[in-house]
Amino acid sequence: MNETMTSLLERRSTRHYTEEPVSAEALDAILQAGLWAPTARNAQEIKIAVMSDPAQRVSFRSDFAQADGRPRFANFDYGAPVFLFLYGPKDFPYTELDSGIVVENMATAAEGLGLGTVIIGCIRDYMRSPAAKAWRDVIGMSEDDLFTIGLCIGHIAEPTKKQERKENRVLYVKT
Ligand SMILES: Cc1cc2nc3c(=O)[nH]c(=O)nc-3n(C[C@H](O)[C@H](O)[C@H](O)COP(=O)(O)O)c2cc1C
Repeated sequence: MNETMTSLLERRSTRHYTEEPVSAEALDAILQAGLWAPTARNAQEIKIAVMSDPAQRVSFRSDFAQADGRPRFANFDYGAPVFLFLYGPKDFPYTELDSGIVVENMATAAEGLGLGTVIIGCIRDYMRSPAAKAWRDVIGMSEDDLFTIGLCIGHIAEPTKKQERKENRVLYVKT
């Protein structure tokens, strides 16, 4: 198996991180992988906000937990040292799809560098709610932007068990 296939097949969502920071070089490489992702109409509209300041992260976590009210999501980012927020224009029809491609490119790049990631969707409703206006400002979003997805990045403390994939999801079209 080549390295790309290994990264794609062996990547698992990491939910236990060490405290070791992500190096600037590794983070930059991961961000480059996101920026070089294909985008519909080559629009390149997806923006990535990087939040790694621990105090800011604690504050965000607390605001989210308070607004969300689901205790199991209070530690939604699993203490990962880096968290990325992705967003793009509300009126661009591919903002969500492009974000998915950008985030997966970054997750695969991180896997190739030996780092762990987990894609985070559970903050989506909060990030789109009036309660999160101040955080949208902090991460540079305008009223015309839509939050799409988040990504945790860090060093893996505990590897995640493989989740089996459902069968019969490929259909060869008969002629
Ligand atoms: C769009 C999307 C949103 C997700 N949101 C969350 C989340 O909020 N919290 C979480 O722990 N995992 C989240 N995940 C990770 C999935 O649970 C995970 O990919 C799935 O269980 C398969 O496991 P694997 O990634 O280890 O193969 C999300 C994944 C995707 C693609």
